[in-house]
Amino acid sequence: MSTYLFILGKDRELSLAELIARFPVADVKALGTDFVALNLKEDFSQSDLDQLGGIIKVAKLITSVNFKAVSGTLFDILSARCSDKKMTYGVSVYDWPQNHLREILFSLKKAFKQNNFKTRFANQDYKNISVAQFKGFRKNGIELLVAKDSTCLLVGEVVAVQDIDSYSRRDYDKPFRDMQVGMLPPKLAQILINLTGVRQGHIWDPFCGGGVLIMEGSLMGYDMLGSDIDEKTLEGAKRNMEWLRMKSDLFHHDATTPLLGKLFDAIACEGYLGPPQKRKHRIAEYSPLIHHLERLYIGFFEALKESQFKGPIVIALPFFKTIEGRDVLMEDTIEKIQNMGFELTSFLPRSLAGHNCFILKYSRADQVVGRAIYRFYFK
Ligand SMILES: C[S@@+](CC[C@H](N)C(=O)[O-])C[C@H]1O[C@@H](n2cnc3c(N)ncnc32)[C@H](O)[C@@H]1O
Repeated sequence: MSTYLFILGKDRELSLAELIARFPVADVKALGTDFVALNLKEDFSQSDLDQLGGIIKVAKLITSVNFKAVSGTLFDILSARCSDKKMTYGVSVYDWPQNHLREILFSLKKAFKQNNFKTRFANQDYKNISVAQFKGFRKNGIELLVAKDSTCLLVGEVVAVQDIDSYSRRDYDKPFRDMQVGMLPPKLAQILINLTGVRQGHIWDPFCGGGVLIMEGSLMGYDMLGSDIDEKTLEGAKRNMEWLRMKSDLFHHDATTPLLGKLFDAIACEGYLGPPQKRKHRIAEYSPLIHHLERLYIGFFEALKESQFKGPIVIALPFFKTIEGRDVLMEDTIEKIQNMGFELTSFLPRSLAGHNCFILKYSRADQVVGRAIYRFYFK
């Protein structure tokens, strides 16, 4: 059993929910604003992180120390790794003010000099090590991470970082991209898949569009099924999969009709979000669009009910930002879906969640349309 410190992404609850879905029986050893420490039975490696869209860095816990002992402890860990070659190291602090990092780096530099060790620190301007910086020195260097728990500091060595280059290659270099349909970020596609809690088998995306979720699921080792009502977009998804050199079952299908003759263990999808919105509107102005979308989603869940699908259904539905500063969610639609016999399940235990553990929101500041993620099971 080892403890790992996971540095959470910008959408903290989304990152936490993904981790809990991925490691449902792991104990939470510590929880901060920027990190969570989990006790895991198995070793965690870079290839595990490559399948988690919401985690930035992972460090293996080495020790916990009190505030006064931290610099000495870091020196002991780093000096034990020094050889004849000059060693590069970096230190990052989480849930602890950055001025402490400056003090630590100064005292390490002084101690290495006094002991004639050949080292250099990689932190620029005494700030935390970025993922890109770590990639530059990980072959012959080491990054230590210090995370503040309620009474002590947890010290770990970074073992994996988010592979930002690979995400952006998959996002921007694929042959088919359609800004009108909307582009699901690959990291969010991975999160949606992980939130199903299904670790292997077949996953169906009934609104697959250009196939981002199909691509990510295939890379994660799932057998992916993807369908869309639009033939042209489906052709795009096929081209993207050819580019990735991976196979999946892509077919034309209207999601409001039952899918017959195909077996799958879970559904993960980003639904249709409506036409692109260039600017925010007043609350009432969204009513016709929400009405239209409701018909689509009620039709989709009716078709699922007819086919008696009992597995997890993770779906991102749109929410709309208004001039009045509110988020308009499809709440009436959700209630209707629940009345049809689909139960919403919580993503996080109450101890870890904010006010509502049945919905996870994802949006960026410049977006008018956000995504609200739900997980249903048919009772
Ligand atoms: C937001 S896009 C999904 C984008 C996709 N996740 C991607 O990253 O490329 C929604 C897709 O739903 C499809 N769609 C809309 N109504 C549908 C229906 N009734 N059945 C199946 N697909 C539908 C649209 O053609 C569109 O490609």
